[in-house]
Amino acid sequence: MTEMMKAVQLHAFGGPENLLYEDAPRPHVGNDDVLVHMQAASLNPPDWYLRDGFRTLPPEWRPDPVFPLILGTDVSGIVAAVGKNVTAFRPGDDVYSMVRFPEKVMTGSGAYAEYVSVPASELALKPQGIGHVEAAAAPMSLLTAWQFLVDTGHDAVNPFQPFPHKAEPLKGRTVLVNGAGGGVGHLAVQIARWKGAKVIAVASSHHEALLRELGADEFIDYTTTAAEEVVNNVDLVLDAVGGAHMERFLRCIKPGGALFLVNPLGFSARDEAAQKAITVSSTQVRSSGAQLNEAGRLLENGLVRVVIDSTYPLAQACAAHQRAAMGGIQGKIVLTNL
Ligand SMILES: NC(=O)c1ccc[n+]([C@@H]2O[C@H](COP(=O)([O-])OP(=O)(O)OC[C@H]3O[C@@H](n4cnc5c(N)ncnc54)[C@H](OP(=O)(O)O)[C@@H]3O)[C@@H](O)[C@H]2O)c1
Repeated sequence: MTEMMKAVQLHAFGGPENLLYEDAPRPHVGNDDVLVHMQAASLNPPDWYLRDGFRTLPPEWRPDPVFPLILGTDVSGIVAAVGKNVTAFRPGDDVYSMVRFPEKVMTGSGAYAEYVSVPASELALKPQGIGHVEAAAAPMSLLTAWQFLVDTGHDAVNPFQPFPHKAEPLKGRTVLVNGAGGGVGHLAVQIARWKGAKVIAVASSHHEALLRELGADEFIDYTTTAAEEVVNNVDLVLDAVGGAHMERFLRCIKPGGALFLVNPLGFSARDEAAQKAITVSSTQVRSSGAQLNEAGRLLENGLVRVVIDSTYPLAQACAAHQRAAMGGIQGKIVLTNL
């Protein structure tokens, strides 16, 4: 008999109201997989892009999945069972992961559920000293900041450019982080500081106190001041927002510096960047248990803090997505099953 669980399922693309809390079959656990009893799962932009059917992509790129599907990549929980080849984890272990990304970006990785199947290679022990909510909040944002700023950690084809992304040395350098209050941004600020950089944080004013507490040396409120009007000669800009006019950041960067685009779609000033000897680079975040283990040490020893915007019970995933749609997210939105 199929064992059942509660999950938030999507039967059709659309708004937050399409997220239905209902019974679903527990996932199958492959030989190399671990079944995780979810305690908390966080929201990330790919969750609402997929919920919406990636409507901003050209039709031929949009997903065509078999419904129902279960959103969610980021999970923290307790190991319930392990596949027969798995030796690194045991039932009862506290673990966290970014699940099957980008492999399942178009079909859902299944973290908005009581149980989720995770390849053992994508799992790490939860950092001690932080709870499941904070651990679930970390994976995609933390791995993104890590793979951009510290170590890409893989040689998979880069979907955004013909060359691999490479982190820049940061010690003694000046780094501007745009979108510094969001999931990726607030962790990038702290990781750049930890690597020895001076950090300029760009966000709306309600994030200023937090970002200074997290180590930002300077703060710019983008709603009143354009960073490119007041900043020049930085070594690196990490733009964690994207959208129109990303090329404006080229004016902030010294020759030989770099512009890292977390959301690069639409950037069209590569010639201008080359003329200014500025490297423009991006990468797509990829699941990695090994990197979560390494970066998790920063969470464990308090060098990096994951900020929680808000929490919602799993059954209220719809309300959590409505919160995300309001914008101005400070840190992470988390679903709980505690
Ligand atoms: N390359 C990859 O693999 C990868 C991985 C992760 C994320 N991403 C992409 O990176 C982006 C950020 O992800 P996230 O998880 O950090 O999202 P998020 O948590 O929603 O954060 C976005 C932040 O940007 C701020 N913001 C919005 N408009 C802004 C503007 N004009 N100037 C400066 N800040 C602005 C928002 O708050 P305020 O307006 O209140 O300041 C918010 O704090 C998304 O587009 C996501 O798809 C890409």
